[in-house]
Amino acid sequence: MAKRPRIAVVGSANVDLTTFTDQFPKPGETIFGQTFDMGFGGKGANQAVAAKLCGSDVFMVARVGDDLFGPATIKNFEKLGIDASQVRQVPGLSSGVAPIFVDPAGQNRILVVKGANDALKPADVDAASDVLKSADCIVLQFEIPLETVYYTIKFARKNNIRCLLNPAPGQPIDVKAVADLDYFVPNESEAETITGMPVKNVDDAKKCAEKLLSGGIRRVIITLGANGSLLAGRDGMEHVPAFNMKSVDSTGAGDAFIGSFATFLGEGLAEGEAVRRANLYAGLSTTGVGTQKSFYDRARFDTEWAARAKS
Ligand code: RIB
Repeated sequence: MAKRPRIAVVGSANVDLTTFTDQFPKPGETIFGQTFDMGFGGKGANQAVAAKLCGSDVFMVARVGDDLFGPATIKNFEKLGIDASQVRQVPGLSSGVAPIFVDPAGQNRILVVKGANDALKPADVDAASDVLKSADCIVLQFEIPLETVYYTIKFARKNNIRCLLNPAPGQPIDVKAVADLDYFVPNESEAETITGMPVKNVDDAKKCAEKLLSGGIRRVIITLGANGSLLAGRDGMEHVPAFNMKSVDSTGAGDAFIGSFATFLGEGLAEGEAVRRANLYAGLSTTGVGTQKSFYDRARFDTEWAARAKS
């Protein structure tokens, strides 16, 4: 039986307010959207949920707001079996929220208001150190303060814990500040923002990955949507194709990739195999509406994997 990974996510929790629409209003205009969905989201929380549904033991370190969404978010973690003992409400701040717009092709546009996520500070990482030290992988994103991300990377290195960063939403950073990571996992647009190089296809991704590796990062995975993923290290690069999907909503697919990849790797799979399975897990998440609620549990995933891995 595969080892059960222990994954700690230091990151965001939002509530997603998703509108499905075939057009977008111009300034000053009011138009009708088609349908609406509300659900628990946030890149950190989504990645934690994906890892849990894939079979990891998961610990969340996060801050939520002093509003209706705060306790509901904590309850959602608990309902899913995620350890939320380090998820606290911050007095006087709103929870993180994300108005999201999805077009008929399943493509999304997301606005994040960080709210209480911005109150997660290095001192909170210290306060959670017992939980973090018990993990075999720490997962980070960019919806919390950068100082907390950098601090946690150092904490992981010092304690010899595998560390994976999803630099989302993309923002310019000093690559050297994250060079202690084990895995740097941007999508195309995040890779573009960080390196200043266009990433429109696999060849562009290879050039971009070379730049990130030359900046000191050890392993890079650039997720490329329908084009799969590029896995790159100083020992070479491998393009891992995606699986065909009938997508209705791609929101959270990157998070599904991260949470499942951390789990598959933690179970002891080789990197390339872990990426191949994570490509499928992420693809499957685009066939349902919303983020966390579109993620497959392990039994459903294994059935799909058994059917598709041969093809
Ligand atoms: O990656 C998708 C997520 O981005 C959404 O759940 C939203 O909350 C934003 O954080």
